[in-house]
Amino acid sequence: MAETNPSYSPPNEAPDRVIHRVLEGQKALVTGASKGLGAGIAVALAEAGCDVLVNYSSDRGGAEDTAAKVASFGKAAYIHKADVSREEEVLGMFGAMRERFGRIDILIDNSGIQVNAPFDEMTLDQWNAVIGINLTGQFLCAREAVRAFKSQGIDPGISSSMGKILHISSVHDVIPWAGHVNYAAAKGGVMLLMKSIAQEVAPLRIRVNSLSPGAIRTPMNVEKLGSPEDYKRILLDHIPNRRIGEPEDVGRAAVWLVSDDSDYVHGATLYIDGGMTLYPEFASGG
Ligand code: BGC
Repeated sequence: MAETNPSYSPPNEAPDRVIHRVLEGQKALVTGASKGLGAGIAVALAEAGCDVLVNYSSDRGGAEDTAAKVASFGKAAYIHKADVSREEEVLGMFGAMRERFGRIDILIDNSGIQVNAPFDEMTLDQWNAVIGINLTGQFLCAREAVRAFKSQGIDPGISSSMGKILHISSVHDVIPWAGHVNYAAAKGGVMLLMKSIAQEVAPLRIRVNSLSPGAIRTPMNVEKLGSPEDYKRILLDHIPNRRIGEPEDVGRAAVWLVSDDSDYVHGATLYIDGGMTLYPEFASGG
């Protein structure tokens, strides 16, 4: 048995990337793509060959940055403002997708916000804001995507699926989160939203899955990662892998989950969390 090298310390950086253009020619719509995970996924899809509709709700500058990165891979980027919790705006966005790209092959159902409060101080507005974007928004976009996929049919030259939906959830679809009950309730809802849609549309060969990230270096998390003490505490207490995730970690997994390489993956949740869902506090015994 090999001896453990006592001087070994785990790497802090993500490993180098290998790019395969497995999505060449496909058209993707990414919600909440002006920053964070949505931006990382939009760029990863473009690297893999997709044209991308970059949705945003308020950060136009961020959406322009994402679009420029998409364009740097020689792919078309189209920016569209819409609040995913509003039905008419979602319908307008899918109409724009049709006009601009003629079809949709991939939906990344990503938009999400956090509005935190102790449970007994949480207002109905705080509850509704998070459920509206993080759960109802995912429903509205997924419904429009399925409608579009059905009207297009399967084109084997593009993909073996009629279409792909990837819900961006969170480790908090299984880990309860005190002080964030609106967020955890929405993400728990996304899990069975995803599985129920997946069950219903499987015979059409529309593939539906979730990707559930842990602590990723996104604007939503900068505050938390801001102080060295907090950074260390999060790493040591919650992440067996001992590094914070990068948007690129999530982007690479998203590309695989919407490519034909994962054709037999359906109704699944892939945790990208450095082991956060492994109950790390049990590592030294229960
Ligand atoms: C949240 C992050 C959090 C992570 C792990 C994610 O869903 O957006 O703020 O760090 O879960 O707790």
